[in-house]
Amino acid sequence: MPDSIWVTERPVWFSGVRLRSRTTVVRLSGDALWVHSPCTPTDDVCAALDALGEVRWIVVPNRFHHLQTPATAARYPDALVVGPRSAEARNPRVRSTMGTDDPAYLRATPELTPIQLRGVPFLDETVFFHPASGSLIAADLLMSACARDHWTWRAAARITGRYGKVRTPPDVRMHARASTAVAESIAQMRALPLQRILVAHADPITDRPAQRLAEAWDFAVPPHLRQPGATL
Ligand SMILES: [Fe+2]
Repeated sequence: MPDSIWVTERPVWFSGVRLRSRTTVVRLSGDALWVHSPCTPTDDVCAALDALGEVRWIVVPNRFHHLQTPATAARYPDALVVGPRSAEARNPRVRSTMGTDDPAYLRATPELTPIQLRGVPFLDETVFFHPASGSLIAADLLMSACARDHWTWRAAARITGRYGKVRTPPDVRMHARASTAVAESIAQMRALPLQRILVAHADPITDRPAQRLAEAWDFAVPPHLRQPGATL
């Protein structure tokens, strides 16, 4: 990975299974750090961050990945929290300074392109493309299990068809419907020069990432947008 992007993993329990959850850190110009889906700001984590630069942006990517945001914001009071209002509604301790469409945020982070996943209000996620590394940075856009995962998630993933396969998270699948909005959002993402997709709960997706993305979200393409004979 280039010298401007780092990831860290920690275990989290969710719905009776132990997942790995990833935090992604991007170093912007001026050694400003952009921290996506922050983990618990332990002394070790903060020492590692402080060695990389100055934490300026704490990013809540969707309605759900907000749990460690208040603690991270308390540890880095000069950092600005960026995220959707829907996350604040779920967690009153989360105070977003601005949304990812705020002109001040966009001016300060030209290294990253935000793309909203429209049509899935249950998740309300914005993903970020980092052209310098060809990385699409997301949280719950996709999910997968592999041999490195805890047995609880491996077992659940086999039942739900997510072991060794890249799919949407089961709860996202349950709440998402086919629509032009979601199909266009996925098409916008897969048209990017993707080298990898980084999500919270899977290894980095580096093998044909655009195709994997399209396969996982194929259910959300409405019939009128399907071209006869079209392949992924
Ligand atoms: Fe998640």
